[in-house]
Amino acid sequence: MDDKVYVFDSTLRDGEQVPCCQLNTIEKIEVAKALEALGVDIIEAGFPISSPGDFNSVVEVSKAIKEPTICALTRAVEKDIEVAAESLKYAKVGRIHTGIGTSYYHIHSKLKSNPEEIIERAIAAVKYAKRFVEDVEFYAEDAGRTENEYLARVVEAVIAAGATVINIPDTTGYNTPEEYGNKIKFLKENVRGVHKAILSTHCHNDLGMATANSLAGLMNGARQVEVTINGIGERAGNTSLEEIAMILQSRKDIALSTGIKSKKIYKTSRLVSTLMRMPVQPNKAIVGRNAFAHSSGIHQDGVLKNRENYEIIDPTEVGINQSSIVLTARSGRAALKHRLEILGIKQSKEELDKTYDKFVNLADKKKDIKDEDLLIMLQMQKAKAHKIKLDHLQVISGKTPLPTAIIRLEVNGELLSASCTGNGPIDASFTAVKKILKKKVVLEEFLIQAITRGSDDLGKVHVQIKSKGVSYYGFSANTDIITASVEAFIDAIEQTNGFAVPVKKEG
Ligand code: KIV
Ligand code: ZN
Repeated sequence: MDDKVYVFDSTLRDGEQVPCCQLNTIEKIEVAKALEALGVDIIEAGFPISSPGDFNSVVEVSKAIKEPTICALTRAVEKDIEVAAESLKYAKVGRIHTGIGTSYYHIHSKLKSNPEEIIERAIAAVKYAKRFVEDVEFYAEDAGRTENEYLARVVEAVIAAGATVINIPDTTGYNTPEEYGNKIKFLKENVRGVHKAILSTHCHNDLGMATANSLAGLMNGARQVEVTINGIGERAGNTSLEEIAMILQSRKDIALSTGIKSKKIYKTSRLVSTLMRMPVQPNKAIVGRNAFAHSSGIHQDGVLKNRENYEIIDPTEVGINQSSIVLTARSGRAALKHRLEILGIKQSKEELDKTYDKFVNLADKKKDIKDEDLLIMLQMQKAKAHKIKLDHLQVISGKTPLPTAIIRLEVNGELLSASCTGNGPIDASFTAVKKILKKKVVLEEFLIQAITRGSDDLGKVHVQIKSKGVSYYGFSANTDIITASVEAFIDAIEQTNGFAVPVKKEG
């Protein structure tokens, strides 16, 4: 049997059914072009009868796309089929995807019909679609909960009517992989004329089995897989394209392949996530932020010795630059040394020991340590030992009482305190420092920056002060921005060299 699996992407149809994640036509064209570049075989561009916007999107996507087949969804209703055919008129190759519910639930409580009538309607829909396009895909909605014998009758009838692809949706995500695989096998073995059509999987993820079910379908003879980028879709979503593509790429023993250019996977995932304003869960297989991030010391050490110790896919294969060693409090010296070397910093064993102590301290306060954090930490380490040290800082901010700072400094070995109010906690702190040091300085510039992202970030503070007509610059970084501000202010004051040993001690 042929080992080629056709990838049918439904990001713009089933994927787009996610509440609040609709795309406009321009965005749909952008996604369709990315899917074309990714190498999908069929793009399901919409459900044209559902709205003028959907109709228009299928028209515009058809105009913009050259290689993949463009598919439009319909119910088994003549008007739907006519509108779909109209929307596909610019498609280089167009496909109509029509179908009807075949499970007991759908036949009786949704369609208020009976099994024989459903077969008649299915045949009629396929024949009608065939008047407009050669390529007609039929879906047996809720096939996952349809008895195999009845499903086989439906499939046989629509193949005889001219359907070229038969979609077997597990619409409610109910099947187990074994059940779904057996369903495909049953159809392969019991439907007359089955070789004239391609069987397609279409699995939903309600029980977290969409990818496993699709794979079981493929291993039992299906040769088209219906997927969405990032697995988006109604409820728990659809089978995700990236998972199927990478399973087939990395498990050569399965002996099936797709035309997906895997190096474009990550980029496409980011595009869909951004345009749909739908974040990807961090631990999502293949494209999640943590999919190639190693944070435990043992794993980091293992990856540094040989990537394959803990990685089954080279992240560059999916377009991610490299696996990331995420430095956290659990990282060892080897991981820190490796990261520093990437940053071009070589340290002796003694230097590394010192850096490691500082690193562990910082990592206790901040979850992930990024390159920027390391650089700042090293910059701080190099800074000359201060004669003035911040020994204690407590601030109250808010309206009542007035913002207040209580500060204790160690100046030349002596502990000195002051408590001051101000128009904010930083103003109060600077006033207290000036009071302790008996310094008349003017604050010329004050800049706080977050180094990376996230509320647990290091804050970087630059200050410029003027003393006796001369400007002095001070710097500090700390996860507590008020502490960083006071330290930067002290750093600047130290440059003036003119701080006198204060005359008056307080508290
Ligand atoms: O899940 C489903 O049954 C579908 C069909 C409309 C193809 O999306
Ligand atoms: Zn679906």
